[in-house]
Amino acid sequence: MAKNAPYAWMNGKLVPWEQATMHIATECVLRGENVFEGERAYWSEAEQELFIFRHAEHIERLRQGARIMRMTVPYSDAEIEEACISLIKACGYRGPVHFRPVVYFDQGELTDYLPSEIKTGMFILAFSKPSTKSIETGVSTCVSTWRRNSDLASPSRIKSGANYHNSRLAYIDARLNGYQVPILLNAAGKVAEGPGACFMMVRKGKVITPPVTADILESITRETLIEAIQAELGIEVIEREIDRTELYVCDEAFFCGSGHEVTPVNSVDHYDVGEGKPGALTRRIQKLYFDIVSGAVPRYRHWLTPIYGNAARKTAAD
Ligand SMILES: Cc1ncc(COP(=O)(O)O)c(C=O)c1O
Repeated sequence: MAKNAPYAWMNGKLVPWEQATMHIATECVLRGENVFEGERAYWSEAEQELFIFRHAEHIERLRQGARIMRMTVPYSDAEIEEACISLIKACGYRGPVHFRPVVYFDQGELTDYLPSEIKTGMFILAFSKPSTKSIETGVSTCVSTWRRNSDLASPSRIKSGANYHNSRLAYIDARLNGYQVPILLNAAGKVAEGPGACFMMVRKGKVITPPVTADILESITRETLIEAIQAELGIEVIEREIDRTELYVCDEAFFCGSGHEVTPVNSVDHYDVGEGKPGALTRRIQKLYFDIVSGAVPRYRHWLTPIYGNAARKTAAD
């Protein structure tokens, strides 16, 4: 587990980690009623700067999830950005950071949603979090017996704490069966995603990933790679349904997400993917991703928000 930070941000102010608490009667605690983001910031040694990757897109998705839940986000975009920056600065991080802005329902009833009926609050947690070893080694996977949350039941499009009950069931089942990470199919039996990342595979030189209508989270890393793989590597990315058996005959595969970054898949249900180790194209995609998030590709600099003010903030027009 990541080491605790010295501070958290809660409802408008920085508080010491131990004091960042909430009442056990809140809907957030009782039913996981929240919407959150998992964002990363990357340290650039050359620029002595920490850059948040695609912060605006994360907050846009947070608002999209809150809208579906009819939840009022109690702060403006500028206030949220300032809160994230102030927390990371206060923690003094000068290395990879993972942080979570969370908007939650306070105490109320299941029928309450109007601001006059139920308050919403917000907190942010930050952790120092280097990449996992799996980035290098790749992971063994299985097709989970659990199905991904359906859009008709508990939409995967909303990044809500409650949805991760589904991810946990799949994760634990996979681990007990000797695999590292499950791949979840949706209710239609098509590949959806991993428990905390989207899925991409390579067949015949093309990258293929399930569409946003496959009961997946609309991943910002997925969107980033769809654009960058085509623009920078000249390789076509196709968004289409994926059958289970295609997993057994693909040439390469990987998970992608802010937390999992680009994690190679070595096997599915004991079928080796390619040679059973991270593939050559997957390695190129990993390199491209890490170059982009660390600010080494000028064309994508507008996706980076500097934290300490040592590097200039760029817009898409720059
Ligand atoms: C279920 C799920 N799918 C996909 C992703 C990847 O989303 P993103 O690339 O925006 O981090 C995540 C990670 O946050 C996730 O939890």
